[in-house]
Amino acid sequence: MKYSRIIGTGGYLPPTIFTNADWEKRVDTSDAWIVERTGIKSRHIAGPNETASSMATQAAISALEQCNLLAKDIQLIIVATGSPDKIFPATACLVQKNLSVPTCIAFDIQAACSGFIYALSIADQYIKNGAVQNALVIGSELMSRLIDWTDRNTCILFGDGAGAVVLQASNEPGILSTHLYADGKYDDVLYLDNMQLGDHVDVIPSLQKSENFNTPLENMQPFIQMQGQKVFKVAVAKLGELIKDVQKQHQLKPEQIDWLVPHQANIRIIKATADKLGIPMEKVVCTVDTHSNTSSASIPLALDVAVRDGRIQKGQTLFFEAIGGGLTWGSALVRF
Ligand code: COA
Repeated sequence: MKYSRIIGTGGYLPPTIFTNADWEKRVDTSDAWIVERTGIKSRHIAGPNETASSMATQAAISALEQCNLLAKDIQLIIVATGSPDKIFPATACLVQKNLSVPTCIAFDIQAACSGFIYALSIADQYIKNGAVQNALVIGSELMSRLIDWTDRNTCILFGDGAGAVVLQASNEPGILSTHLYADGKYDDVLYLDNMQLGDHVDVIPSLQKSENFNTPLENMQPFIQMQGQKVFKVAVAKLGELIKDVQKQHQLKPEQIDWLVPHQANIRIIKATADKLGIPMEKVVCTVDTHSNTSSASIPLALDVAVRDGRIQKGQTLFFEAIGGGLTWGSALVRF
């Protein structure tokens, strides 16, 4: 078995829909501004009892049902998330428990909005080297709990949801290549502090002793921080460079790509990426209007929508790409 193939897709979106009109009631914004700058019209918001693991479990069940695979056949679970239920155990272990998957490899990875691409690439390596036969690769995010609901610069951008794929060993090409990148020098343009580290400062003797208490903990922010314009510019530039790398490696021509399934952050970034690939918007799967930015869940959710409505067919060539906090970015070229 030389390759890994996606044999099942699944998604879960919380039932509550929050429209731009709902944001208009909370912050100084307008539907027209949000649609023009981002393409977003609405997003799904998780209920009080929903978590990254509960949504990931629903997405995984739907992916397993689609390909008629049983939980007992899974040997690897990777959950990409920046909003895990707990710091540990990993969300992947909670999904394993929920699905009653017997002892397997299960861990989370954190690459912000590029998390699904990173997770797919890791699972592909596990399968190609023969370590496992079947893997669940999931992106699951509770972005609504990470945003400041009074900050119009960020709150209108994000939504909740989970997407999953089942990856299986195959003799036929599936994942053709993945390209992963990170550059930590952009750590300040999009980030979320770990408030857990600042919570108990008062009772930690080593910190109390310090006369001039001035640690990074003091400056921690509880919500997502973003320099929107900078993220936008770097995203367009880095995705452009990435596309050149992939085109060079595969001698890839625009007509060879059946579908671009991009990270759904912003319709203007998506259009710029389609332009760089040389493909028309009719060949782009867009869910940003109704899902908004669900971070690592956005690609598997968009993929699942287009598989279930019949646009994406077996044998077609797909291009996934994402960029997010880190900054991290990456792509996967996939024969579906
Ligand atoms: N409603 C109305 N006005 C808003 C607003 C909102 N929700 N958010 C910001 N504004 C205002 C700003 O305060 C600013 O007002 P000012 O000129 O009086 O100072 C004005 O709109 C322009 O702000 P700016 O940040 O320059 O807008 P922009 O055209 O860059 O659009 C983003 C803002 C966030 C939509 C855009 O920068 C973007 O999409 N960036 C990438 C974000 C992203 O994708 N992040 C996730 C990556 S994974």
